[in-house]
Amino acid sequence: MDNPFVFNGYAGAEYFCDREKELAELQRFAENNVNVTLIAQRRMGKTGLIFRLMDELASVGSEIKPIYVDIFATRNLAELNRTLATAILKAFPEESSVGKRFLGILKGLRPSFGVDPLSGSPQVQFTYQNQTEKEHTLEGLLDFLEQQQQPVLLAIDEFQQVREYDNENVEALLRTYIQRLHNVRFIFCGSRKHLMTDIFSNPSRPFFASTQFLGLETIAAESYGNYITKMFTAGGKEIDAEAVAQIMQWSRRHTYYTQRLCHEVYDLPVNHIGIDEVNGCCNTLLRLNEPYFLQYKQLLTAGQWNFMIALAKEGIVEQPYATAFLKKYDVGATAVARRQLQTLIDKDLVFAETTKEKTYYAVADLFLMRWLEKEY
Ligand SMILES: Nc1ncnc2c1ncn2[C@@H]1O[C@H](COP(=O)(O)OP(=O)(O)O)[C@@H](O)[C@H]1O
Ligand SMILES: [Mg+2]
Repeated sequence: MDNPFVFNGYAGAEYFCDREKELAELQRFAENNVNVTLIAQRRMGKTGLIFRLMDELASVGSEIKPIYVDIFATRNLAELNRTLATAILKAFPEESSVGKRFLGILKGLRPSFGVDPLSGSPQVQFTYQNQTEKEHTLEGLLDFLEQQQQPVLLAIDEFQQVREYDNENVEALLRTYIQRLHNVRFIFCGSRKHLMTDIFSNPSRPFFASTQFLGLETIAAESYGNYITKMFTAGGKEIDAEAVAQIMQWSRRHTYYTQRLCHEVYDLPVNHIGIDEVNGCCNTLLRLNEPYFLQYKQLLTAGQWNFMIALAKEGIVEQPYATAFLKKYDVGATAVARRQLQTLIDKDLVFAETTKEKTYYAVADLFLMRWLEKEY
């Protein structure tokens, strides 16, 4: 590989930094038939970790069969069925006996087959007469997994998307079906924290208290620092300790942004990297992303944009309604601030994190935060 710092997808264990503890936990949960809810901020490494887990299960020769399905693009139960069927088809090759059996079952569900124009991979379509048929199809797909000889691990990424489905009550439906399964364990993964928490820890929701929670924090500084140094050194590049520290500080060790910055620095046609080289790359990344930032600005009101600037300048805000904060950035009355902040959270532009000690708010896109900090 030309550049060992991957910021798009999973490229194998050697390009994956740490997460040893979380990986071991996920593996143990899978082995012990425990369903898991994996929640973390966007771009922290949830999807990567799921792929790392699938890779690990394969490399230790585990009997568990992992299946990954991303439901981000689905808008209703019919699309969920299609996406799930396609994922299962992908996991069991058509020529294998399981694959053949799956195709047999699918035929009973009246599918048509096609090819996804974007990816070129096989795709399944169902035709339904009514809502009950859609529900039966979902049940049939899960039953198929239940009947496998091997235990199955079904990882559903962007799970909070089920909340966007209209009036289909898929959450309750899934809960009912899942409760009956013994051979299938789940990872429910998502980044909209308030939605995920509501699905899994609200007593009035069907999934209440049914899963083990696992969160992903930033990778520890020592671990990430060693990894960065190791990758540069392996590529014949020398990097100063201060340069590594600067990379981690500027990108806050938020995985995607740290990887993206490392990638940029690694691409420099130099063999010695100091702090100036790192700072140069930070500026390059902000410049490259500027068109997106200006688009955000267009989508927001002047007040919302001002609030973004205030959050960026502060870095992290614990008390967004405190008089000092509202005054300093000329935000306006508490009610106004409350509305602005809620809109920004709903648009995923601001991230709200609640820990045992406190709740804090920050600009979700780290590059945008650094840019606002610099420009205003
Ligand atoms: N532990 C890791 N080591 C190296 N790169 C990682 C790691 N975790 C994630 N990444 C990189 O960061 C990017 C964003 O992570 P991703 O798993 O897509 O985040 P999320 O699913 O939480 O939004 C990934 O494309 C991957 O390349
Ligand atoms: Mg993801």
